[in-house]
Amino acid sequence: MNSTKQRTEQDRAVRAAENGGLPTLGFDSVTPYDEYVGTAALHRLQRTATDAPEELAFLVTTQVMELYFGLLRTEWRLAQRQLDEDDAGAALATIRRTVRHFEALNAAWASLGWLTPAQFNRFRDALGEASGFQSAYYRHVEFLLGLKSETLIRPHRRNPAAYEELVEALSRPSLYDSVLAFLARSGYAVPREVTERDYAAEYRPSPEVEAVWVEVCRGPLEPLAEALVDLAEKFSDWRYRHLMAVRRSMGAKPGSGGSNGLAWLERSMRRDVFPELWSARTLM
Ligand code: HEM
Repeated sequence: MNSTKQRTEQDRAVRAAENGGLPTLGFDSVTPYDEYVGTAALHRLQRTATDAPEELAFLVTTQVMELYFGLLRTEWRLAQRQLDEDDAGAALATIRRTVRHFEALNAAWASLGWLTPAQFNRFRDALGEASGFQSAYYRHVEFLLGLKSETLIRPHRRNPAAYEELVEALSRPSLYDSVLAFLARSGYAVPREVTERDYAAEYRPSPEVEAVWVEVCRGPLEPLAEALVDLAEKFSDWRYRHLMAVRRSMGAKPGSGGSNGLAWLERSMRRDVFPELWSARTLM
């Protein structure tokens, strides 16, 4: 333990003794907890559009998911930097952590699993054209998973900050691209046209990359492959739970974002994440 840490531990021990074992009960202004978490600002954000009692759960669940999209985005960018530095151990730890974040994110669907069409109808009109389809952070998450699409960033054109971030994310390597580049540097036969591709273009699966995964899964980097499969699976779970929430609360009606709803979501779900990691399993 370094000396500052030791002093802080000693301070805590002295305070606990002075408090007779109880938590500290007196503060000069807002509590350090409120200051750190920003609770006042956080709780001001739940501005519902109607008086329908069901709407708050819808809004809070959406906000919680937005925060998780932001967390995943930050974590995967870190994993990319770790891969760029050929630090596979650190990248694996980061990716595994995000599998847990995804589990927590997916668990949040339980808060909406009860929503009936009648209850949703009480506040649905008040959402206007608002739709999760317009979430820039979700789109960024998809880009990092390798699902690139120029079309899907168009809703953000009039919001320069979000748009520029997405334009940049579109042309930068995805997490999958970073992993493939790392494998190439580690001696695996990832074709040059894959590592040097136009990152903004839709990813095209290749038999060579499939063969690379077969080989990777026989060696010491297998845990990295499996952690990525976990991620892809958790993302599928998110999409499936979303689809079920939609079917349950509004059936096949058109969405507030202007799409034909279920049919559009089903088509969107068919875009596979880390495709060769799945197809390679047939060859193992
Ligand atoms: C019962 C609740 C929900 C319903 C009925 C619903 C409905 C829909 C529909 C119909 C779409 C297709 C686009 C459109 O609006 O036309 C969509 C897309 C989307 N929704 Fe939801 N949604 C619900 C909850 C949520 C929540 C809690 C989130 C969390 C942020 C979310 C995020 C998204 C995202 C990210 C998309 C785009 C998906 C893609 O591009 O593949 N939705 N939603």
